[in-house]
Amino acid sequence: MTVKKKKDRVLIFDTTLRDGEQSPGASLNHREKLEIAHQLARLKVDVIEAGFPVASPGDFKAVQAISEAVKGPTVAGLARCVKKDIEVCAEAVGAAEKSRIHVFLATSEIHRKYKLRKARSEILKLASTSVAYARTLCPDVEFSPEDASRTERDFLAEVVEAAIDAGATTINIPDTVGFAVPSEFGGLIAYLFDTVPNINNAIINVHCHNDLGLAVANSLAAVQNGARGIECTINGLGERAGNAALEEIVMALRTRPEEFGGAWTGVKSEHLFGVSRLVSRLTGMSVQRNKAVVGANAFAHESGVHQDGMLKNRSTYEIMRPEDIGIDGTELVLGKHSGRHAFANQMTRMGITLSDSELEAAYDRFIALADKKKHIYDDDLVMIAREQMAEVSPVYMLEYLHVSTGTDTVPTATVRIRKGTDVLQDAACGDGPIDAALKTIDRMTGIQGTLIDFSLQAISVGKDAMGEVSVRVDFGEATISAKSASTDIVEAGTKAYLSCVNRLLSERNGDKEAVPKNKAARRKGGMNASPMKAAPTKESP
Ligand code: KIV
Ligand code: ZN
Repeated sequence: MTVKKKKDRVLIFDTTLRDGEQSPGASLNHREKLEIAHQLARLKVDVIEAGFPVASPGDFKAVQAISEAVKGPTVAGLARCVKKDIEVCAEAVGAAEKSRIHVFLATSEIHRKYKLRKARSEILKLASTSVAYARTLCPDVEFSPEDASRTERDFLAEVVEAAIDAGATTINIPDTVGFAVPSEFGGLIAYLFDTVPNINNAIINVHCHNDLGLAVANSLAAVQNGARGIECTINGLGERAGNAALEEIVMALRTRPEEFGGAWTGVKSEHLFGVSRLVSRLTGMSVQRNKAVVGANAFAHESGVHQDGMLKNRSTYEIMRPEDIGIDGTELVLGKHSGRHAFANQMTRMGITLSDSELEAAYDRFIALADKKKHIYDDDLVMIAREQMAEVSPVYMLEYLHVSTGTDTVPTATVRIRKGTDVLQDAACGDGPIDAALKTIDRMTGIQGTLIDFSLQAISVGKDAMGEVSVRVDFGEATISAKSASTDIVEAGTKAYLSCVNRLLSERNGDKEAVPKNKAARRKGGMNASPMKAAPTKESP
């Protein structure tokens, strides 16, 4: 057995809740973010980047709640090199056992010239003053020179040195646009280790995007050259083509440690499959079947030759054991005779943390579903948990839905919804039953939405499987995504649409009540008080 040396430990920095949530179409509500954060702690990642607190009141509240509730990993929040961003971030992560402020500033010529309109000297100064200011609020400060891989090497080295001098405890080298290739990116990390005199005073992280499908390869090349922190996301979610996939990084280091000088992570790989499935269900971003490590086909052997080899000795075609990532082939199937205890046990086994009242309500949903379908699988249970977390207090609830459709009929829907004690009912025709139902809802709520995405996916297996509908709706003032599942896909689509309406209404409310103090100041122009004299930029990571 190889001895794991402390110096070879690679810290896993999970950014599913920040960069991952920036994936087009992957939005999570407060309760869902908290659940994912609990699961990441169970997985034993080292750092959870919980959000970008200044971006919205919802982000602020989520980072704050995760900091308060989740024990184990460091909780990080993102901030631009802007005084108020840093203050809001410090306030949001303040309650964590271990907190971190992660400040970033673009350094490449393209970004300096077109986005920031700042000279090298201004960037250098802004990076150091921001890191130094963050250090006055938090002992753990990370600095990211955004677009590092396209930054002139000598200038990047200067910025990194200045940030470490100013107190950065971690330096992150992002390949922001996924432009690098492994030999080059590994070479960049080696160059920084050779050139920056104080480099050993900080941990070097990397943060690779997957635009050329090289995010994992680039991250691993960085480890071979001295990086000891990898920023990654569950299922490789993230801006555009995503970030490096956490499960692939962890399993590559675990399967081939000798190629990485014995590098290892503290991640409990046996939870990888469960977390992957939860994130996929909660974000509505499905995992492709042939995805490495966690895809449905990752351990399926189809050809006769392979099956024969597997039967003789698994090592002929298997480089990882399914049980190492939590696929143990012993999924317990529940049904309508399963009691509360079995239901609660199964939820706990999957690492899902529901309060007593949530568990009780989830059990009622389970019984209702078990009346419609015989076997309830883990995927169905994740869906039940998700529906339980979906909306704390929906304004509109679907009470009744009847559709009439067929080859020679005009599709018509009759819909009844409840708003508090008011019951509204109406009917409309449409191009199809879903169009008819949504038109009826628009008429009753007086809110016009345009459906810009509608996708359907089967959950678990069998003809009676539930269909999960994910929708994206443009309301003009906001674009909102939601999902719903049912054994009836028209009902699932209608409920998902109504969820979007409810989310719109709750965002309208939330905006009024949830503005953190510092943010309110910023809106009033408090930004000018910045000691860094930094004008707010429009950049977003
Ligand atoms: O991709 C990127 O550069 C980022 C930074 C904020 C680290 O997400
Ligand atoms: Zn990123």
